[in-house]
Amino acid sequence: MVLGVGLGRRAEYDLFGEEWDPRRIARRYDETLELLARFWSGERVTFHGEFFDVDDVALLPTPEQRPRIPVLVAAFWPNRRPVRRAARWDGLMPVVDPDPDGPDLTALMTYYREVADEPGEVFLYVDGAGLTDARVDSYRDLGITWLASDCISGGRSTEENLELVRRGPPPGERPRVAPAGRPCDSRPMTTETRTAAAVSPADIENGRRAYELDRAHVFHSWQAQALFQPMTVLAASGSHVWDGEGNRLLDLSSQLVYTNIGHQHPAVVAAIQEQAGRLCTIAPQHVNDMRSEAARLVAELTPQGLETVFFTNGGADANEHAIRMARLHTGRQKVLSAYRSYHGGTQLAVNVTGDPRRFANDYFGEGVVHFMPAYTYRSYFGSTTEEEESERALRHLEDMILLEGPQNIAALILETIPGTAGIYLPPPGYLAASGS
Ligand SMILES: Cc1ncc(COP(=O)(O)O)c(C=O)c1O
Repeated sequence: MVLGVGLGRRAEYDLFGEEWDPRRIARRYDETLELLARFWSGERVTFHGEFFDVDDVALLPTPEQRPRIPVLVAAFWPNRRPVRRAARWDGLMPVVDPDPDGPDLTALMTYYREVADEPGEVFLYVDGAGLTDARVDSYRDLGITWLASDCISGGRSTEENLELVRRGPPPGERPRVAPAGRPCDSRPMTTETRTAAAVSPADIENGRRAYELDRAHVFHSWQAQALFQPMTVLAASGSHVWDGEGNRLLDLSSQLVYTNIGHQHPAVVAAIQEQAGRLCTIAPQHVNDMRSEAARLVAELTPQGLETVFFTNGGADANEHAIRMARLHTGRQKVLSAYRSYHGGTQLAVNVTGDPRRFANDYFGEGVVHFMPAYTYRSYFGSTTEEEESERALRHLEDMILLEGPQNIAALILETIPGTAGIYLPPPGYLAASGS
């Protein structure tokens, strides 16, 4: 659910015999929104503003959506205040000539991006008839995230429109900006807002209970369980997470270096929701359109000759399979791997791992030989420049291969950029040369 709000036009106030005083209405509108957001938290609210007095009132039940129902603000251009209001809330509905090449929409979107820390959803009504793919791309480039065409005036009855909404988008359609000719893009908005909204005291309370349950029942990887004091994450949005006390923090490690696209990205949320609605799981032996498409996309990126993708449950699983395949294929046993690397938590993967996490399970039975990685910042080779590091680390690797016996080596496993073992970039040339 989304709440669309706007100041309205004079005619709308005249109709109800209300006074048209835009400045006063805008102040009331801001106060209303503030009050509404506080009511949605479920907490008891006491509020004394210019227009409203509230004493110790809780509005229950609270909305499912957290931290709140997204608020999209309509903005007539060239009025700048509504755009600034949209920047403070969760998104914008431009009321403007919708020509993507026209001056108004471009100016409005430029201003919105200027004033919004993190631009939210932008919802635009357009004429579906003239909606070509190129035009959809222009809208996307401008930062429009939703297009609605013909929803209201498409010549359909209300019942027909409702039926379209119920049916949802056509299967397989993933971009949130509708392609040409689609009658009505009725995809659900993300339930997360993308602006900084504090979590509610009820969320914090919920987080405390989660913490207690975690400490009682959850076993965390790579931790001394009794000493561990994990951080609670109550919510996340864009580059931020909210900790157990409701503090908004910049997530500089992207949780575990894997949410680089940002938390709760609307495209990711929409794709997951859509797929969950179609088919939640597929057994390995069947064909599925999404898996086929994912494989095709991976094959587009991999070097020639690597056109087939084997989907596994995770990194350790993938590495185990890759090494077993290399061993079967070559008939050799040894695997070369860098110290300071991390390759997973299963028996072979943790032994291939070059950081100390393998110690407790290292019985030298896995056929793994470790070498020193290229690491200019703390060079193992006394290098002072990246070029030197690349050259010396490669010489070391070559010596290792020669002295271990190339005829015995089934595989060399190397992270492009180590992640969970620490982030260090290989010097230029190192990766390509080590592969050859
Ligand atoms: C480079 C690398 N390889 C393998 C793994 C293991 O992946 P998983 O935890 O999915 O088994 C990780 C996980 O952090 C990793 O960073």
